[in-house]
Amino acid sequence: MATDIADATDARTAADNSRATEAILLVGGKGTRLRPLTVNTPKPMIPAAGVPFLTHQLARARAAGVEHVVLATSYLAEVFEPYFGDGSALGLSLEYVTESDPLGTGGALRNVVHRLHAGPGDPVLIFNGDILTGLDIPALVATHRRTGADVSLHLTKVPDPRAFGLVPTDPDGRVTAFLEKPQTPEEIVTDQINAGAYVFNRSVIDAIPAGRPVSVERETFPGLLAAGAHLQGMVDSTYWLDLGTPHAFVRGSADLVLGRAPSPAVPGRHGERLVLTGAQVADDAKLSGGTCVAAGAVIGSGARVDGSTVLAGARVEAGAVVKNSLIGVGAEVGARTVLDGVVLGDGAVLGPDNELAPGARVWCGARIGAGAIRFSSDQ
Ligand code: GDD
Ligand code: MG
Repeated sequence: MATDIADATDARTAADNSRATEAILLVGGKGTRLRPLTVNTPKPMIPAAGVPFLTHQLARARAAGVEHVVLATSYLAEVFEPYFGDGSALGLSLEYVTESDPLGTGGALRNVVHRLHAGPGDPVLIFNGDILTGLDIPALVATHRRTGADVSLHLTKVPDPRAFGLVPTDPDGRVTAFLEKPQTPEEIVTDQINAGAYVFNRSVIDAIPAGRPVSVERETFPGLLAAGAHLQGMVDSTYWLDLGTPHAFVRGSADLVLGRAPSPAVPGRHGERLVLTGAQVADDAKLSGGTCVAAGAVIGSGARVDGSTVLAGARVEAGAVVKNSLIGVGAEVGARTVLDGVVLGDGAVLGPDNELAPGARVWCGARIGAGAIRFSSDQ
């Protein structure tokens, strides 16, 4: 009996040590690199595998034991609350705090700190709002507790780290420097990057200056290191993708559909395709590679759609071939038109017999007539 109680206590302690019940999600960025997708919709609200991308992050946080989430919003802030409400549909308590002028990643954290219930020494999870990952969230919290760090960071290795924050660590995993978006070859000291998920002790967020823009990457992390704070890295090799570019967004959505990227929020079974209720797909159309077709979208006879996202009410006409592309809300791809790695903004209309080069972006509402061939190098 005594042993049973001891075992139960150990189990509970282990669970508590790997659990943080509060999270802040940074969702205020302008999503500039995703234009024209982000003209009408903030990046976290663009559907990936049939639901706004943020749904996947919220569902994964909930599955890891998070109960209370504060969304730090700015750009197109008004669209989040009507969709997610109080969060109860996801089993969460959700709050929204809007910056009238963007405060940067650190300023955004400081701006929401009064909404947290955590005590000064309690862990708070923080997530960039555009990361698709299989991160073991409880393992990050457990690392944070075990090492007694002030801040713990999820790290991942990428072949080209230049677009990210570089985070070298010592043999114990302790962070030794933080180099955001290195400019010179000498600064590329590691292939280990900030993967955009952290555990902060609440007191560290309280100490960020209030009322002005602060970059957590350029100011807070280097400042903490200079002051001798303990920043701990946890590197892993799980699925990881920043959905900040059209190419990455389409890839991430397809990986969710295929089941390569883990999320409890994919509305259907994993497979080559996800066709949502209310979509019309011709019997002889071929959908493959994790293609998702949203409600009200129409895929015509003989069309082939591979690794692509077709948003609500869009049309892909007969015989069109669409690969690794994103077709915006209500947009139209004409018959026999060929697209590879293209973004069609909401309401754009491409006539029949076009062929657009990889990386082409067609602006929302633009109209391109029949048969023209266009090239764009803007990737
Ligand atoms: N509330 C608010 N206010 N959120 C913001 C603001 C702001 O002023 N600026 C950016 N964000 C949010 C974005 O919406 C996004 O979810 C997150 O903060 C990170 O911003 P990005 O614009 O996506 O940054 P990044 O991808 O160039 O770099 C960041 O992520 C990399 C990993 O993908 C940095 O954290 C890098 O160090 C990191 O390697
Ligand atoms: Mg990003």
